Amino acid sequence: MVSRSAAIVEAKNVDYYYPGEGETVWPALSGINLTVAQGEYVALIGPNGSGKTTLLKLFNALLTPFGGEILVQGISTANEETLPAVRQACGMIFQNPDNQLVATTVEEDIAFGLENLALPPAEIRRRVEDVACLLGLRKLLRQPPHLLSGGEKQKVAIAGVLAMEPRCILMDEPTAMLDPAGRQDVIDTVRDLNKRQGIAVVHVTHFPEEAAWADRIVVLNEGQLIVQGSPEDVLTDLSLLHELKLQGPAAVELAALLREDGYRLPPQILHNRELVDSICSLERKN
Ligand SMILES: Nc1ncnc2c1ncn2[C@@H]1O[C@H](COP(=O)(O)OP(=O)(O)OP(=O)(O)O)[C@@H](O)[C@H]1O
Ligand SMILES: [Mg+2]
Repeated sequence: MVSRSAAIVEAKNVDYYYPGEGETVWPALSGINLTVAQGEYVALIGPNGSGKTTLLKLFNALLTPFGGEILVQGISTANEETLPAVRQACGMIFQNPDNQLVATTVEEDIAFGLENLALPPAEIRRRVEDVACLLGLRKLLRQPPHLLSGGEKQKVAIAGVLAMEPRCILMDEPTAMLDPAGRQDVIDTVRDLNKRQGIAVVHVTHFPEEAAWADRIVVLNEGQLIVQGSPEDVLTDLSLLHELKLQGPAAVELAALLREDGYRLPPQILHNRELVDSICSLERKN
């Protein structure tokens, strides 16, 4: 049963504790309320240990909440029978693609999740072919995954998730192991999927420049959702970010230093291009 609401994933007053931690341990998450809408791109940020990975695992039903409820397309993740539907709707991509690649060729790897759906072989081949085309992986289909570059491996992991035709992709620091070109490639790929296919994305990242492209920023601290809002509002609030030991995007940090030195720059500069354009227009006026 699919809910009529446009929500893809919802956390309703969710609490989570890792079991066996003793009496004095803080909850990993407490009182989390968050709804991710169809087609939305949400960046989830927060310091180490703030609960970001735990929340993604709850969305993907790798964990179930101790209090409250997680709904994926209106289906509770607490129900064992509907787990396959939840996992199909909400695919997860981890930081290290090596942990996600299991087969001996790229083709088998992409098909791995599909085998469990008991689809006809022709349908499996069609889906593998389609996602390989979409992500530019066709030439690599017969390669062993361990021979690929980090960025290529992460794309194979994304392809395996996409082949399941999910409505939402959950990404836990998917670019942390990649060089700048690999990072950009993975981010461009996911942004494109979000914009063109309307696949919702929840993206955990420690790179503020990546978060800046999201529709909405959600900030966790010590297991609580403390702020959410547009990138223009949240990522330019340097006093909040610095208090949490986080940083703003490079353009935001630089703009703040320039303002301290007396340059009159507009308040919501977020991206490098905006900063450069603002500086150039200042010089032209002088
Ligand atoms: N398997 C586990 N067993 C016990 N405690 C855990 C486990 N995994 C996480 N925790 C604890 O739960 C809290 C939240 O951890 P989580 O991994 O969700 O944080 P995070 O925001 O993803 O951090 P990071 O930015 O370092 O990846 C932390 O206090 C962590 O120590
Ligand atoms: Mg984490």
